[in-house]
Amino acid sequence: MRIDIISVAPELIESPFQHSILKRAQTKGLAEIHLHNLRDYAVNSYGKIDDYQFGGGAGMVLMMEPIDKCLSKLMKERPYEEIIYMTPDAPVLNQNLANKLSVAENLIILTGHYKGVDQRVRDRFITMEISIGDYVLSGGELAAAVLCDAVVRLIPGVLGDETSALSDSFQDGLLAPPVYTRPSDYEGMKVPDILLSGNFPKIEEWRHEQSELRTRRLRPDLLEGDKN
Ligand code: 6GU
Repeated sequence: MRIDIISVAPELIESPFQHSILKRAQTKGLAEIHLHNLRDYAVNSYGKIDDYQFGGGAGMVLMMEPIDKCLSKLMKERPYEEIIYMTPDAPVLNQNLANKLSVAENLIILTGHYKGVDQRVRDRFITMEISIGDYVLSGGELAAAVLCDAVVRLIPGVLGDETSALSDSFQDGLLAPPVYTRPSDYEGMKVPDILLSGNFPKIEEWRHEQSELRTRRLRPDLLEGDKN
């Protein structure tokens, strides 16, 4: 998978890709992340990429032209399955969407900053808009890093057996069950007997029960309908 991320602050996204699973995915050749600084496509030699909004109001808006130049260049080089815009005024990312995106070969992620992008960018180029939750971040960069992490770890071969995505929260529409490690008794706090029993069918049953209990208690919304 190749992901091109367009941003006014690409350095904000660099570090998450240099560690752990996202780094391993790249070293293994399973994912390629390319960061593009929107300022390299500025409309003048001062690096202008934003302007005041028509109609008045606080905050700068990213202009059409630099984004057009950057997107058009990339789109000429290869076909992209989706051109994603990260913005809080969009449907919220969930595991189902991450699963769908994990089979793509080429994705573009555009991240806004300030007041966001000129609406015409969204109208002309964007095929999918994603928010990561109901709160506002200063820019889409951290949200893009979240999206990339959620998607890249699902690419076959990125995770080993020991970190398999199959037992993650949400993969079956439920929260993950509690987990324990040694010692089995810490200052009187005991690990549930069932986990020490060696009875694996019973253990699976217990885990599923715990998942359901936890989901009902903490995220009852996940149990309503097939939203996930
Ligand atoms: Cl994608 N961008 C920004 N700026 N804030 C957010 C977000 C995205 N998702 C949740 N809050």
